[in-house]
Amino acid sequence: MKLFDVYPIYDISVVKGKGSYVWDEKGTKYLDLYGGHAVISIGHSHPHYVQMLKNQLDNIGFYSNFVRLPLQEQLAEKLGKVSNCEDYQLFLSNSGAEANENALKLASFATCRKKIIAFSKSFHGRTSLAVSCTDNPSIIAPVNQTDNVIFSAFNDINALETIFKMQGQEIAAVIIEGIQGVGGINIASDSFLQKIRSLCTQYGAVFIADSVQCGYGRSGKFFAHDFANVKADIYCTAKGMGNGFPIGGTLIASHLKPKMGMLGTTFGGNHLACTAALAVLDVIEQENLIANAEKVGNYVMSQLKSFSEVKEVKGHGLMIGIELFEPCDEIRKSLIFNHHVFTGSSSNKNLLRLLPSLAVSKTEMDIFLEKFSLALQK
Ligand SMILES: Cc1ncc(COP(=O)(O)O)c(C=O)c1O
Repeated sequence: MKLFDVYPIYDISVVKGKGSYVWDEKGTKYLDLYGGHAVISIGHSHPHYVQMLKNQLDNIGFYSNFVRLPLQEQLAEKLGKVSNCEDYQLFLSNSGAEANENALKLASFATCRKKIIAFSKSFHGRTSLAVSCTDNPSIIAPVNQTDNVIFSAFNDINALETIFKMQGQEIAAVIIEGIQGVGGINIASDSFLQKIRSLCTQYGAVFIADSVQCGYGRSGKFFAHDFANVKADIYCTAKGMGNGFPIGGTLIASHLKPKMGMLGTTFGGNHLACTAALAVLDVIEQENLIANAEKVGNYVMSQLKSFSEVKEVKGHGLMIGIELFEPCDEIRKSLIFNHHVFTGSSSNKNLLRLLPSLAVSKTEMDIFLEKFSLALQK
């Protein structure tokens, strides 16, 4: 059997990882500032994470949600504290798309409404409703095309108000990334997020904060939406939550009530997944990684601003977009193959995305700055 060929990949196979570095099968060492699509939050193969997963595997790796899983309760309690969502409820799944899919479905159940507002350049995943809310027609299959999703311009308060004025009683939810990732590191303005909050409250709609990429401390705050000082009704997390172990979390405000059987999953919240997520939160706390993300992020962003080849530096913390005056794919290739640094792309062809581990050091970022400057010389 052959692989279903859907990924534009680089011809490198990664066989080992440690901290901010990965190695290929020939022993070449790469500085990983991409973390496999923003997934590596505490660094590759962190010893505490490895030990906790090994210990758990010695006991039991998996059981499903038909018995009590105390690890889920431990995770809910710890995540509630770290995220400042202690009075929320946690539903566990396996990916970012599922975290959003469940949030959207729950919003529709709770409001008995069908319409969802999403924004230009959004990316919310590839399951059916999540992809319908994603602003990329090329990945929406005909069966997922729907009039139930209304796209509005990102950060446009007037456009949003108009939709609510016309159809407010039909809106189940508004879904928004605090910082758009795939769309090219676009920050939702404080006033826009505050307006979403007030319109959702006024019209009885559910505010869903997609924090799959921008959340879990990456921005220098636990949720990027926290910059606007608003509380969403639902936060969706994944990526950094398991540092590579698949897990998604839907954090649900207490006014949204559960009903037996309304959501469900076979794998979600299993022993290994919860252990991975608990280990991640331990390390985030013990090593002060959210403060590190803010500090190192501010440092590298200020340095990047002095490059004449850089048009704009966007982002918060360790979610950084470097926008050049021209397409950056050659520079990205040069960074990988000549300078051994992994970076990411986005739907903005001129923009490089940096999504390193939250534990990345200033010294490692200095190495990047030096290699970036060499790659720019071509
Ligand atoms: C903001 C956002 N939401 C949802 C997803 C989907 O997550 P997953 O690929 O884990 O399903 C992504 C993935 O890139 C994302 O960036």
